[in-house]
Amino acid sequence: MSGLVTTPAPTGTDTAADTDTDAAAARDGAATAGADFVRAQTRLAAVPFVPEISLHLAEEAIELWERTESERGEIGLPPPFWAFAWAGGLGVARYVLDHPELVAGRQVLDLAAGSGLVGVAAALRGAAVVRAAEIDAYAVAAIALNAEANGVRIEARCADLLDGDGAPAEVVLAGDVFYERAMAARFLPFLERAVARGAVVLVGDPGRAYLPRERFTALAEYDVPVLADLEDRAVKRTTVWQLG
Ligand SMILES: C[S@@+](CC[C@H](N)C(=O)[O-])C[C@H]1O[C@@H](n2cnc3c(N)ncnc32)[C@H](O)[C@@H]1O
Repeated sequence: MSGLVTTPAPTGTDTAADTDTDAAAARDGAATAGADFVRAQTRLAAVPFVPEISLHLAEEAIELWERTESERGEIGLPPPFWAFAWAGGLGVARYVLDHPELVAGRQVLDLAAGSGLVGVAAALRGAAVVRAAEIDAYAVAAIALNAEANGVRIEARCADLLDGDGAPAEVVLAGDVFYERAMAARFLPFLERAVARGAVVLVGDPGRAYLPRERFTALAEYDVPVLADLEDRAVKRTTVWQLG
């Protein structure tokens, strides 16, 4: 199995090279390799707490992280977030599944989508269009596989959108994105710009350190099962917050 060395850099955005045939062929090859890797490292299963959805998930993180670095021939890669359903995403997905009116007929962005769990929930509840943005090329591969497994369509891009405002999404959903100070410093202004242009913005968060709670309104709370391997306990209280 070939590696993902031709995959656009995790921080890369779509460029004019998209129109170039060689670049498109390289990207297709990388996407296939990424999909093969995701399939090989995960098992498709119904997701605890949101059993309406099945995802390609891993059962342990550290060895998969090492295998990802070995596959890429690089060290210092980000953890394989895409192989897990994070507490914040579980909360938002549950909320969307139980409140289809939030997304039905609307353009939805699943920001920092990981596995695409939240985007799948929005698509299952009748969103007109679901876009997913990730900076990890493996996540983009996982999102495509997970959309297919659930019989829905998601337009997934390896792109950093945080300098924009999320247009044209009418609903912006973000599961678990306030766990690092530097990340929070970019996500909050992005989400505020989305609200300022009229989008509904929901964030799922299990009490991460850098969520500015005073800017948000709580919509729902859930106790969600998580991997003790990744968190400090087996169940975490997750809040679904609306910005503004
Ligand atoms: C903890 S995971 C959450 C994944 C998913 N939303 C969930 O709740 O299961 C955070 C994700 O944010 C992604 N991420 C970090 N910075 C990003 C950025 N600037 N744009 C898009 N995704 C980003 C990471 O690659 C990672 O997959």
